[in-house]
Amino acid sequence: MSILLYFSMKAAVYRVKRDPPELEVIELDYPAPGKGEVTVKLEYVGVNPIDYWISSGRYPIKSPNGIVGSEGYGIVDNVGEGVEGISVGDKVSIYPWIYCGNCRYCYEGWENLCVKGGIIGGVLDGCYAEYIRIPYKNVVKIEGDARGEYLAVAGVSALTAYHAVKLAGVSKDDNVLIFGASGNVGMFLLQYSKLLGAKVYGVSRWDWIRDYGADHRYTFENLDNSIAEADMEFDVIFNPLGGDVFGESLKYLSRHGRLVTFGGLKSMSSRIDIAPLYRRELRIIGSTGGTFNEFRKVVEDLSKEIVKPKIWRIFKLEEATYALRSLFDPERNGKILIRI
Ligand SMILES: NC(=O)c1ccc[n+]([C@@H]2O[C@H](COP(=O)([O-])OP(=O)(O)OC[C@H]3O[C@@H](n4cnc5c(N)ncnc54)[C@H](OP(=O)(O)O)[C@@H]3O)[C@@H](O)[C@H]2O)c1
Ligand SMILES: [Zn+2]
Repeated sequence: MSILLYFSMKAAVYRVKRDPPELEVIELDYPAPGKGEVTVKLEYVGVNPIDYWISSGRYPIKSPNGIVGSEGYGIVDNVGEGVEGISVGDKVSIYPWIYCGNCRYCYEGWENLCVKGGIIGGVLDGCYAEYIRIPYKNVVKIEGDARGEYLAVAGVSALTAYHAVKLAGVSKDDNVLIFGASGNVGMFLLQYSKLLGAKVYGVSRWDWIRDYGADHRYTFENLDNSIAEADMEFDVIFNPLGGDVFGESLKYLSRHGRLVTFGGLKSMSSRIDIAPLYRRELRIIGSTGGTFNEFRKVVEDLSKEIVKPKIWRIFKLEEATYALRSLFDPERNGKILIRI
């Protein structure tokens, strides 16, 4: 390898924000680590709607070079001054939430809510690249022979699901209904709800959700009738679809039921009928990402394959535009990765 190549890297960047997004693979300087930072040579990167929202303009944030990608797994290539417990050659998974460690939320262990925080791929250059430079407190070291494809999905998909399940207090014998059950997060909501002993109902076009923890599958189209015919009520509903589907799902909740959102796939606004909200003492819970401790837990679970992603396709970095656009391909049925 030439010296020139060593000091540069390939990255997929957006020049302008447009929908559908267009990424261009260009050469950038090798991101050498500063104080308290590590440079990770990426191996697998998870593709998520947030990458699409940032590069298409739905979210206004922009990383320095326009590199998206909040989920990744790789090998530590370089460590900066003051880095402790992480060495060159370590296999690591990336915690995507930048956090200061000093605000009241960080003190209480809510790094995902840090007032000075933000997400990798949004406020810092992300993972659609050969290398990434990040704070060393944003990586967790992986022991043993875990699968890189699995560890690449820890930071957004698995973590968001684990945190949401915890916030909702899912417990044994709860009836849990999951919208978007085949989605990046949904496939882990199924698994974590099942592991907690809940009875799990998924809404999806795909029958494979039964292999990932669904006891029963509904389809979106005949949902009202199916639920009414079965006279079902749910203790917890996860609904990342947004739009009116979100507000309407309140009607499926039992008394003291919890409706959880972590996104608005269809739309960011929704009409809520207030009467059932107070009459049945329902709760609406917002959830975002997860804490660093929860991240350690999901990394361990993925390493031991206690939970796992269903992977649909793995693209090359040169195909990053197609990887991103494939998120909304009607044929898509599982997680999309980029192999760097
Ligand atoms: N706050 C956070 O920390 C956080 C983290 C991750 C994601 N998110 C947000 O949460 C949302 C879901 O993320 P994700 O990565 O799980 O999404 P995803 O993988 O793209 O898809 C979710 C699933 O929703 C279903 N779906 C999609 N469009 C639909 C529609 N119009 N009507 C009915 N069902 C539809 C599909 O399931 P079927 O094909 O099986 O029906 C799809 O697989 C996104 O808005 C994302 O930005 C937020
Ligand atoms: Zn903070």
